[in-house]
Amino acid sequence: MNSVISMAYLFSAVMFILSLGGLSTHETARRGNYYGMVGMAVAIIATVAGITSGAYLPVAIAMGVGAVVGIHLARKVEMTAMPQLVALLHSFVGLAAVLIGWGGYLDPRVNLVGAAHIVHNTEIFIGVFIGAITLTGSIVAFGKLQGLISGKPLMLPARHWLNLIAILVCVLLGAWFIPADVGPTTIVYLLVMTSIALLLGIHLIAAIGGADMPVVISMLNSYSGWAAAATGFMLSNDLLIVIGALVGSSGAILSYIMCRGMNRSFISVILGGFGSDGEVAGGDGEVEGEVVATSHDELAEDLRNAESIVIVPGFGMAVAHAQQAVSDLTDKLRKAGKTVRFGIHPVAGRLPGHMNVLLAEANVPYDIVLEMEEINDDLPKTDLVLVIGANDTVNPDAVEKPGSPIAGMPVLEVWKAGKVVVLKRSMASGYAGVANPLFYKENSRMLFGDAKESLQSVLGKLNPA
Ligand code: TAP
Repeated sequence: MNSVISMAYLFSAVMFILSLGGLSTHETARRGNYYGMVGMAVAIIATVAGITSGAYLPVAIAMGVGAVVGIHLARKVEMTAMPQLVALLHSFVGLAAVLIGWGGYLDPRVNLVGAAHIVHNTEIFIGVFIGAITLTGSIVAFGKLQGLISGKPLMLPARHWLNLIAILVCVLLGAWFIPADVGPTTIVYLLVMTSIALLLGIHLIAAIGGADMPVVISMLNSYSGWAAAATGFMLSNDLLIVIGALVGSSGAILSYIMCRGMNRSFISVILGGFGSDGEVAGGDGEVEGEVVATSHDELAEDLRNAESIVIVPGFGMAVAHAQQAVSDLTDKLRKAGKTVRFGIHPVAGRLPGHMNVLLAEANVPYDIVLEMEEINDDLPKTDLVLVIGANDTVNPDAVEKPGSPIAGMPVLEVWKAGKVVVLKRSMASGYAGVANPLFYKENSRMLFGDAKESLQSVLGKLNPA
């Protein structure tokens, strides 16, 4: 039986690797998802088949409750609330690692000596440490993304020293804990380390400014992977170790890519660098120039006159559910012989690939959806740019104002086009909370209103043409 289970685990591991490979391009993403589903189904069946204690009922109940909650959430959650959900799910992985670590430590049946004892205690100590940081860090990230906690970075005095001291104390506790036998003192060591790691998770994420949240999400994704791998070691489950390592390393690579996209150093982000002077929320507000509003008729006219058009979507497109209207407009303009392309910022929206998913869902052809660096050089040659619910990702201050909280982040330089029309509901700032001088540029026009309603109205006006 054991060898059948091992084979099943190996099969699942291969499926997960194929799944990650598939998810790397639009064209193969659907297939990648199927591989992942098959891998997970086989993994669950093999894990249940491997239960030796006969405790099928509690497992069935736990799986039943999990399935009901999971199906309910998957049906109900809005795309715009996905990051919060992902953050919350990461906290479950952290919680599982903490509970399994504690359970493994207090299990009276475990009676190891020598090297096996050291390895067992090391797994438990590291697993609980990573799990506890992931647990509270993810809950704070959830709170920030859900708007329950301020997005402003928490700047405690000497915060880097506090983190360093916390880590050093944990290392010291580990040095005492690992070689010792189970007893009241070692339980206290584990308890103190768990409490410190829980506080460290809160502090690490609370110190990160609003605009760095994309990196935080993928970083917590990575942590949750390492927590799962640690759980795999504690349970001697090879598949969990492999999956944990895959999630951990892919999350770390994604964090690195995002840091590069935002021109940030990874270390400075995890130590609470970007926006860390506490200036992010509120912004600087003072922008010179005049805001000129436009109308649906005027935009329809602009679209008729333009030959090359670039559409830059942002979080507002997701909020407005405007992707289908965007797709219909694109279709209409392309049929009229115009060149229409999309410019996607690496952190547009609230999730990695957020805009790509929405546009794919609305059947926008992949080949006209370009990354920021692919389209930026073409923007000066573009007649018209439509900014649909994007804000921070098109903010000229990022490249023009060194003191700005978002200074240094590469942005879509839409103001270099012949004309820019920004579709949003008000003059409100975006996620990073900074004012946007784009709205005041001479070649900018604001089309106020919900993006979907505006686009549908403009489409209606284009129809008779
Ligand atoms: P944001 O800067 O967040 O701005 C979105 C804009 O959409 C808002 O200014 C809002 O203005 C507008 N909007 C909201 N609802 C709308 C509606 N129904 N119709 C039309 N407009 C609407 O968007 P962005 O440019 O995509 O930038 C993303 C930001 O989120 C960055 O700061 C990024 O760092 C951060 N972030 C990204 C991620 C990832 S992984 N992508 C994760 C977390 C955070 P009004 O209220 O005036 O309409």
